[in-house]
Amino acid sequence: MAPCAGCFLLAVLFSANCKVITFLDPMCTEKEASRTYNCENLGLKEIPDTLPNTTEFLEFGFNFLPTVQNTTFSRLINLIFLDLTRYVS
Ligand SMILES: *[C@@H]1O[C@H](CO)[C@@H](O)[C@H](O)[C@H]1NC(C)=O
Ligand SMILES: *[C@@H]1O[C@H](CO)[C@@H](O)[C@H](O)[C@H]1NC(C)=O
Repeated sequence: MAPCAGCFLLAVLFSANCKVITFLDPMCTEKEASRTYNCENLGLKEIPDTLPNTTEFLEFGFNFLPTVQNTTFSRLINLIFLDLTRYVS
């Protein structure tokens, strides 16, 4: 009986862990490969490292950027359009 209980607990822990990872690393939606990304309403506090530096259009509304610094967008050297609709600090 004991090993089964252990397996069950492991499965529960594993699935909970997956949920946490998904929550901490929400994926931006790629609308146009390497150019246009939508990261709206993901509770983000920073620009995700997953965005390629070729990004030109970024929809980043409804997030919680605590501060915007001169380095915040420095990696996105091709950025043309930035949407910070409903920007919350
Ligand atoms: C853009 O990203 C690519 C791949 O990560 C990297 O090799 C390249 O050096 C970056 N370019 C600049 C200007 O940061
Ligand atoms: C960004 O700001 C910091 C402090 O305000 C300054 O020391 C740094 O040189 C700035 N970097 C750029 C790339 O402007």
